[in-house]
Amino acid sequence: MHLARGAVFSLLLATGLALPGSEGSKHHANKARSAGYALKEPPLTTPWTDKVGTEPWPEYPRPLLQRSEWKNLNGVWKYQNASGLNAVQNPPFGQALAQDVLIPSCLESGLSGVQADWALYSWFSTSFEVSSSWKGEKVLLNFGAVDYEATVFVNGKKTGFHRGGYFRFALDVTEHLVFNKQNELLVFVHDPTDDGDYVIPIGKQTLRPSHIFYTPCSGIWQTVWLEAAPVNHITQLDIDGNMNGQVNITVHSSAKDAPAEAEVTVHKDGKVLATHNGPTNKPFQFTVPSPKLWSPNSPNLYNVTVKLDKDEVESYTGFRTISRGKVDGIERPLLNGEFIFMFGTLDQGYWPDGLYTPPTREAMVYDLQVLKKLGFNMVRKHIKVEPELFYQACDELGLLVIQDMPSLRPSQSKHVENCKSVPILPDEKQQAEFTRQLDVLVNQFKSFPSIATWVIYNEGWGQITDYYPEFGLTDRVRQLDPTRLVDSTTGWHDHGAGDFSDNHHYANPQCGTPFYSADSSPFDPSRIGFQGEFGGIGNNVSIEHLWKNQAAIDSINRTYEIDTTIEAWNYRSHILLGELEEQIRLFSCSGGVWTQTTDVEGEVNGLVTYDRRLARTDEKQWQADIKALYDAAAARSNATTATL
Ligand SMILES: *[C@@H]1O[C@H](CO)[C@@H](O)[C@H](O)[C@H]1NC(C)=O
Ligand SMILES: *[C@@H]1O[C@H](CO)[C@@H](O)[C@H](O)[C@H]1NC(C)=O
Ligand SMILES: *[C@@H]1O[C@H](CO)[C@@H](O)[C@H](O)[C@H]1NC(C)=O
Ligand SMILES: *[C@@H]1O[C@H](CO)[C@@H](O)[C@H](O)[C@H]1NC(C)=O
Ligand SMILES: *[C@@H]1O[C@H](CO)[C@@H](O)[C@H](O)[C@H]1NC(C)=O
Ligand SMILES: *[C@@H]1O[C@H](CO)[C@@H](O)[C@H](O)[C@H]1NC(C)=O
Repeated sequence: MHLARGAVFSLLLATGLALPGSEGSKHHANKARSAGYALKEPPLTTPWTDKVGTEPWPEYPRPLLQRSEWKNLNGVWKYQNASGLNAVQNPPFGQALAQDVLIPSCLESGLSGVQADWALYSWFSTSFEVSSSWKGEKVLLNFGAVDYEATVFVNGKKTGFHRGGYFRFALDVTEHLVFNKQNELLVFVHDPTDDGDYVIPIGKQTLRPSHIFYTPCSGIWQTVWLEAAPVNHITQLDIDGNMNGQVNITVHSSAKDAPAEAEVTVHKDGKVLATHNGPTNKPFQFTVPSPKLWSPNSPNLYNVTVKLDKDEVESYTGFRTISRGKVDGIERPLLNGEFIFMFGTLDQGYWPDGLYTPPTREAMVYDLQVLKKLGFNMVRKHIKVEPELFYQACDELGLLVIQDMPSLRPSQSKHVENCKSVPILPDEKQQAEFTRQLDVLVNQFKSFPSIATWVIYNEGWGQITDYYPEFGLTDRVRQLDPTRLVDSTTGWHDHGAGDFSDNHHYANPQCGTPFYSADSSPFDPSRIGFQGEFGGIGNNVSIEHLWKNQAAIDSINRTYEIDTTIEAWNYRSHILLGELEEQIRLFSCSGGVWTQTTDVEGEVNGLVTYDRRLARTDEKQWQADIKALYDAAAARSNATTATL
């Protein structure tokens, strides 16, 4: 969703964040669940806040590469604010840090127990034991995601550095360990978000939250865990299963220079369907005879077991092909060779209690079930990347994913000489880092069957316009992943790159139509006509469902449209969905994204409120309106003319 024209976010004019949970709010002070950890009462809770406990996220975190020997390190750790970047030169080895913190969490969240403001530099520590049964194996220390930079020390030795707030990394800590004794793990985190001159992928996070930009997330916000793997082990699996039953797989191994043979078995319900041997570190293909294809209506998945020497891992795949082709003369997205009308929500993945970290897996899946029940077949994961279990849930439930790259300094500007205001854009080095992280996004997530499309730029945020970097980036993404479509620019600066001609318009859609508005480009029939965002209508709710932060509440009046009753909101939804349906029948509309799944902070435009306790949707009406979209699309399909 974009800001009203002219309302450019200015660093200098930005309002400060009113501290959540400050004076007057009642803390769960006597709710200590472990030593000194206690939840800090967030500005709003969810039905899962009290279910988190002190052993959060117990699930195995890496569904596409599962190993049996693992140990979860989530729980209550120690935290201390650090003075600055230089602090990393002087790690507080062997010292008790100042306070308890729940891992994983965002330091700014109530669930962290810290609810920090301006957490730019931080220390985290814990200790762990490794059983001597792991002797002789490689011990890998895995972080699901740390926002933004992590420097990791084990037993006083620096073991690694990682940059990028949304991605997993593994460190080989074998040589720094002692078995059957406590090992000290110390992590230094630097997260500038949008401080100073930093231009890094941050999505909706800002140090100065207001209206459509939200509280930042700093620190270790996804699962931390250890695993034992043989010396020569599988580090990554790139798997694609297509509609012809072909599996294209790359088994990456730790021994990059020593070619070996891997054995891949595809099985289901205990029945082996295909076994094939192939070399490590390069793609090879084989075919599974007549698999049941994956689609949102029939999300069939198959188990995949991969063996390499002494290593054995479990994975899975789905057989489907995403492509693009002309159907009755109109450029369409195709799933398994047929036009699929992709209809989803803008999904921010924000939680009032956990911010970026969903309180529990059940909570995370609840949002997806809400969408599935209403009939959505897609979710647009908006300038955030989720824990891998999110994508597994989409694979299992049958929800296509449009995955955005997190934006750089969204919609921010700075003042230069003559009181002029210019957008904050990346310099050459920052652009190179954005590009590197885009590669990581595609490489880390491309094996989830549900991901259908990659988005590079949203509404021009962080998009350089004195040359057109989206063309080079689109080529790059296609090279890394030729099996998905690329929506190079969703909204705003469209110069013709990628597979979509994507319009954003509030509240009503302009999807593949012969009319458009000033902030978007005219529809280009050589690409897929798409409504990357529309809707966004709001309905203010009683204070009990609102994010109790005055700055956020004061920004509610900036909503495009406020419907004063839920009935009026449903009436308006019906009108807007009806407009989209007409555009499918009359023009070249191939999919849409409704803003949005939930309310977030000062935004009250969700299908459900931010606390997930109130659904605005008239379920029967929404189900009928969404079905009408698919029916209209089906009436314009002609699978026989689809070209693959
Ligand atoms: C950390 O310390 C710095 C000063 O050294 C301060 O500006 C900042 O607000 C502190 N942050 C937190 C989360 O305590
Ligand atoms: C297999 O996948 C790789 C990317 O992982 C791709 O470059 C290659 O073209 C694919 N091969 C086939 C036959 O699909
Ligand atoms: C096979 O897949 C099913 C469903 O995804 C899963 O429950 C089961 O654990 C898998 N089996 C193995 C051996 O990984
Ligand atoms: C919204 O409310 C705030 C605080 O009450 C006020 O300062 C602002 O002018 C209002 N904005 C609009 C667009 O009405
Ligand atoms: C929304 O509701 C809250 C709580 O009732 C109220 O304080 C605020 O003024 C309302 N804002 C608008 C724009 O209706
Ligand atoms: C599908 O395409 C074929 C070939 O162009 C055409 O003959 C046929 O009438 C079309 N069918 C429908 C239902 O539009």
